[in-house]
Amino acid sequence: MALSAGVTAPPAGVDLRTELAGLALEHPVLNGSGTFDAIAALRVFGDGLRERFPFSAFVSKTITVAPRGGNPAPRLWETPVGLINSIGLPNKGLEGFLEHDLPVLATLPVPLIVSVAGFSRDEFAALVDGVAGRPEVAALELNVSCPNVKSGCVIGTEVGEMAALMRRVRPLTAKPLIVKLTPNVAEAGPVARAAEEGGADALSAINTLRATAVDPRSGKPWLGAGSGGLSGPAVRAVALAQVAEAAAATTLPIVGMGGIQTGRDALDFISVGASCVAVGTESFRDPAAGTRVKNELARELQRVSLRSMRDATASFGRAAGRS
Ligand SMILES: Cc1cc2nc3c(=O)[nH]c(=O)nc-3n(C[C@H](O)[C@H](O)[C@H](O)COP(=O)(O)O)c2cc1C
Repeated sequence: MALSAGVTAPPAGVDLRTELAGLALEHPVLNGSGTFDAIAALRVFGDGLRERFPFSAFVSKTITVAPRGGNPAPRLWETPVGLINSIGLPNKGLEGFLEHDLPVLATLPVPLIVSVAGFSRDEFAALVDGVAGRPEVAALELNVSCPNVKSGCVIGTEVGEMAALMRRVRPLTAKPLIVKLTPNVAEAGPVARAAEEGGADALSAINTLRATAVDPRSGKPWLGAGSGGLSGPAVRAVALAQVAEAAAATTLPIVGMGGIQTGRDALDFISVGASCVAVGTESFRDPAAGTRVKNELARELQRVSLRSMRDATASFGRAAGRS
């Protein structure tokens, strides 16, 4: 099976090469953590996946210290223009990831970014310690959307928690640390700034928005976990606002995501200050969406008379108003 069947080629003469926190990337389109199962895709597409990998870097599904089975079913609900998931971070745990998944992910033709989430600062430290020393790993993404079991706070919603987390993990590695912001805050700027002050190399935004769905037959929550996170086109306008806020509050490069379906959507994120973008929910509909968005973005850049990503970030970068 061919992965990119039907994807139109990009226009010649647009240079999409870019850089993220010191990683040289062929183009600015990554995947959103948890939305592209590269190990399953390798089973389906074989070497065709390596030859036509849709993303310029691969972000793993979030791993935790202990293995997790995830939330009770049902775990998905489709809204008119989005998806609510309550998957609940099922994963093999740190040891299982290092033993079984990392060797396979290391065969992908792009830099590997490992997403980690702890339920305490000590757990985050154990994950950063366990993962960062591996030569296959180019960078880490800190998923700060989980509650700290000690304080009860979601780490990414509290400036103090964010600062304390960075103090704990930053000294553990020189590899790039990307902080993935949660949109479930009144303002994105303060936490983004705390991440920057704590030594983060980049930000990614947004994770899913807290959401729920009601079973029309019973009138009770549909999802086994009671609630979940909304993604897809429904969140795009919120994501653009949050990326703009993070861009205005920091000087960090930002991977913008949330409902990206087309190159035009990607350009919108770059226009408000993102230097890379990620495709998430759209990959469930079309596993080659990353390649299509990349090619469409090249055409969009050409349409606005830009010949490279370098020109695009220089021209649009931080258009959201950072001084
Ligand atoms: C089924 C599903 C699983 C996800 N799993 C993770 C995850 O493990 N870690 C994480 O940081 N984000 C996870 N996300 C959030 C996405 O990476 C992304 O931030 C969010 O969905 C917004 O982008 P999108 O609208 O393009 O999907 C998940 C999203 C979905 C839909």
